[in-house]
Amino acid sequence: MRKDTQADPEAEKKEEADPANQAEAAKEEEEKVEDVMWEETFKSHSDSKPNGPSAVSLDFSLPGVEHVYGIPEHADTLRLKTTDNGDPYRLYNLDVFQYELYNPMALYGAVPVMLAHNAQRTTGIFWLNAAETWVDISSNTAGKVHLLQFYFLVPIVYTYVRWISESGIIDVFIMLGPTPNDVFSQYASLTGTQSFPPLASLGYHQCRWNYNDQEDVQSVDAGFDEHDIPYDFIWLDIEHTDGKRYFTWDPHKFATPKEMLQGLMDKKRKMVAIVDPHIKVDSNYKIHNEIRSRGFYIKNKDGGDYEGWCWPGSAGYPDFTRADMRAWWASMFAYDQYEGSMENLYTWNDMNEPSVFNGPEVTMHKDAMHGAWEHRDVHNLYGFYVQMATAEGLIQRSGGVERPFVLTRAFFAGSQRFGAVWTGDNAAEWDHLKISIPMCLSLGLVGISFCGADVGGFFKSPSTELLVRWYQTGAYQPFFRAHAHLDTPRREPWLFGPENTALIREAVRQRYTFMPYWYQQFYLAHRTGQPVMRPLWVEYPQDPATFALDDEFLIVTCLQTLLGAVLTFVCVCVPQVWFDIHTFQKHNGAQNLYIPVTMSSIPVFQRGGSIIPRKMRVRRSSSCMEHDPYTLYVALNPQRTAEGELYIDDGHTFNYEKKEFIHRRLSFANNVLSSVNLAPDAQFTTGSWIERIVILGASKPSKVTLKAAGECYTLRFSHMVILTGHCVNLLKCHQLFQV
Ligand code: NOJ
Repeated sequence: MRKDTQADPEAEKKEEADPANQAEAAKEEEEKVEDVMWEETFKSHSDSKPNGPSAVSLDFSLPGVEHVYGIPEHADTLRLKTTDNGDPYRLYNLDVFQYELYNPMALYGAVPVMLAHNAQRTTGIFWLNAAETWVDISSNTAGKVHLLQFYFLVPIVYTYVRWISESGIIDVFIMLGPTPNDVFSQYASLTGTQSFPPLASLGYHQCRWNYNDQEDVQSVDAGFDEHDIPYDFIWLDIEHTDGKRYFTWDPHKFATPKEMLQGLMDKKRKMVAIVDPHIKVDSNYKIHNEIRSRGFYIKNKDGGDYEGWCWPGSAGYPDFTRADMRAWWASMFAYDQYEGSMENLYTWNDMNEPSVFNGPEVTMHKDAMHGAWEHRDVHNLYGFYVQMATAEGLIQRSGGVERPFVLTRAFFAGSQRFGAVWTGDNAAEWDHLKISIPMCLSLGLVGISFCGADVGGFFKSPSTELLVRWYQTGAYQPFFRAHAHLDTPRREPWLFGPENTALIREAVRQRYTFMPYWYQQFYLAHRTGQPVMRPLWVEYPQDPATFALDDEFLIVTCLQTLLGAVLTFVCVCVPQVWFDIHTFQKHNGAQNLYIPVTMSSIPVFQRGGSIIPRKMRVRRSSSCMEHDPYTLYVALNPQRTAEGELYIDDGHTFNYEKKEFIHRRLSFANNVLSSVNLAPDAQFTTGSWIERIVILGASKPSKVTLKAAGECYTLRFSHMVILTGHCVNLLKCHQLFQV
């Protein structure tokens, strides 16, 4: 280090020439550079790193693998890219303003799970670490692989993956597959499966920042009836609160919340209100006072309560990693604590990365403390725990009877157990509509099936065409919610002229006709961990043509949606026979099809060989359709067989765990449609019946006989549609009919 004395230039030169001094100077210089390298400052705060700089890392070589997927959340292609020429994929939950597409930057959630796939095997890597994590991907292929394979005759293709986390230990699970479904169940055995959502939450959600007051809510609600568009949930954003104090209502704009909720309940509709985890520092606010007095706030490095800046101004952040804090938070959802709440009010947890407006990268300082743990160690788990505590609150308030619905923006491995996620603040742009598909597919691959994107785009205003197309796509994604930024013009579905209202109405109504199928698929996801919205390669794991497709997807196995066709008029059909769900036109797979698409057509296909239950009498909300009859769509494969299931329960309680449901397998073979009870020990009585059976791919039958509970009826039919005209008892009937 340079001494600050009166300099004798000669002596100085001599000193510098001395080798011992030179070595010392070099070491000092090195340390200085290192200090600077490791120092991280943000405005006046510098990360104190009490344990010094640290990292854990491990490399994986994946022989024979060219395709890797997962590690959400990134606004990128489904198939992960190699990162040799850019940044690694980053996993660090952040509130990102106007995120970029096709970029490995960190977004709101993090699931450190990667799937590797080739035509022989699917495997998975679960890197269990909640600190900031980077994933580097490289490969040796770069187009020359086939030549190399030819010379060496060995599985020469390699993908290399390097995981690096800032702190913690190396805790890795390898899921060996070999099939995609094996990987899903292996991963589910570690982190749990998708929670089974209330049926209504699979319907349409109408949201914006903000519905201004109770009258506004009432008139939007009435607008849906006037325009004959079903919906289940209307949402309130942060402006509904009394000064961004969550669990409260603005006393002027929402003076009688129970009246408003009762009005919705009378129509069998529901509401979601936002409850964020930043708590206004205000000694007149009950929630703040309780958290402070119980010592539940996250601490800063000096032991005081950590304070940051968010919507309410100065805010504290409850320490959701503490079980006692979560239990207290859950108790705040009790009807006598959360004033103005009722059983049709559900919850949205936003800003739970956590978002701290004046923090580094808009989040919490890494040296803030959760008891003995630094925030650095648990950062990516914060949002997970917020949603966990909230879901627990909704369960408890009903005495453990009702299933909760909680939407979260931040998430981690296992968040699927607590509700739904959405892809955050997207924009009203075509590319954002397009990216919603790979983003949701990536989440589904790592267990989080209940995913959607803001329909219409959050920032900016969509063109009418984009809005309509977004509804048409959103209607076939698991979580279906329109949302818009505070500064955007209103965009309720009837504000774009009668023709466009009709198109949006049709898209939403189509969604409602498929509710039994969605619900059944969520039941499957809940039991097995399999994704509801899935890439084609999961169903066709040996077909390399499907491995990089991310503009078409399947709803489990039977429904194929082709966004590619909406945007580009081209689709690649995988093997098997597919029936257009609107025209019933049959397409033979394994070829490129050019399907003309108009504004009014949504390219969705039912797989030949499948049976899909639908409810065709669309009403105001899904609850209004509860006792309506089913129509079975039986799409035959070339062998003239088809298989499907029918799952029915009460749609909202945990009673299915007590075996209160109907679950039947439906099969069509040898011209007989039969039904087998998959759960003989389960019991449920439904008011619904099968009113119609539509057979696709069959010729007109000469005679149709219904055999139900020992009785025989000859059925009416027109073309291929068979009208049962009789109440088919779903519990008793084994052989539904014979053609
Ligand atoms: C950010 C969320 O991503 C957005 O959906 C919400 O409207 C705003 N916060 C206001 O709460």
